[in-house]
Amino acid sequence: MRIFVAGASGAIGTRLVDQLIDQGHEVIGTYKSHGERIRGATAVPLDLLDAAAVRRAVLEAQPDAIVHQATALADMRFSRNFDRGFAVTNRLRTEGTDALLAAAREAGVTRFVAQSFASMRHARTGGMVKTEEDPLDPDPLPSTRESHAAMRHLDGAVVDAGGIVLRYGGFYGAANDGLIEPVRKRQFPIVGDGAGVFSFVHLDDAAAATVLALEAGRPGIYNVVDDEPAPVREWLPVMAEALGAKPPRHVPRWVARLIAGDAAVAIGTTSRGVSNAKAKRELGWTPRFPTWREGFRVAYAGFRGEPSGYEPERARSSAGSVR
Ligand SMILES: NC(=O)c1ccc[n+]([C@@H]2O[C@H](COP(=O)([O-])OP(=O)(O)OC[C@H]3O[C@@H](n4cnc5c(N)ncnc54)[C@H](OP(=O)(O)O)[C@@H]3O)[C@@H](O)[C@H]2O)c1
Repeated sequence: MRIFVAGASGAIGTRLVDQLIDQGHEVIGTYKSHGERIRGATAVPLDLLDAAAVRRAVLEAQPDAIVHQATALADMRFSRNFDRGFAVTNRLRTEGTDALLAAAREAGVTRFVAQSFASMRHARTGGMVKTEEDPLDPDPLPSTRESHAAMRHLDGAVVDAGGIVLRYGGFYGAANDGLIEPVRKRQFPIVGDGAGVFSFVHLDDAAAATVLALEAGRPGIYNVVDDEPAPVREWLPVMAEALGAKPPRHVPRWVARLIAGDAAVAIGTTSRGVSNAKAKRELGWTPRFPTWREGFRVAYAGFRGEPSGYEPERARSSAGSVR
């Protein structure tokens, strides 16, 4: 297939391009400012927030399929106002998605896959692990409303257009992973009982699932996460150890609320993770790192100055490389 990858120079985009090329696909990859990161594909500069430019780029490329992997999360700092950090990403998820879908329609492209996010989005009631069918949070916290709305918009618009939404877990395996510094500096604590559940996925596994979705996925939503959704109190100490950092601090909810705000408390105590059963069943996807327990050890070994011993099978990229 001839595949148009928007956001090909990012953490997932670079790995996806590598794997698509390894599978014999032809790739046109777009970037905002890091074209040098795109290897083996035709690199095209594109601002996804410029709908006319998106239209031109897609019509010119004449692809068989389009993948939307553009976010603006490099160098992002988490703050009390969650939505502020996600403002541009939210626009890429709303305006950017709409521009790509409109261009796809005009170009007659029916195969469309877009990046969404899996955990922390579901109703914070009932079971701690949710499927694609379970309801999203009907009343997100005020500081997170715009980000929730942007993800809902992307999910809805892509599914309505007959496309595929991949709700990825928290990515790890990139050197600019936003959790590394806070965990090293013990700035990411276990809040209260630490019962909030996260789902993770290694970037190489996320890219592999994306290739499968492009080749054989059916329209709809797929959770692309590893096999072990886990509460913060379990995964955070393992990540700290993998990074060679001291164990995380514990803080009561009221202290976390005062310092970091309501969203941080909800993420640490009540958020839900998701199940990958549908992606495994329907895409035939088997994550190479079924659990973050092993994945963190391998991905973060480089950050302790130890060799990871891990060579990506299908990707030229390796865990810990700067992308
Ligand atoms: N599910 C998750 O947990 C998740 C999801 C996404 C990202 N992340 C993490 O966030 C960190 C940063 O991600 P990243 O390195 O991929 O960087 P990023 O800044 O999120 O960029 C992603 C891609 O979008 C492109 N882009 C940015 N603004 C754009 C615009 N206005 N129009 C078109 N394309 C645009 C970037 O191009 P240029 O690079 O050329 O500017 C890049 O190709 C990484 O550690 C990553 O793992 C996590």
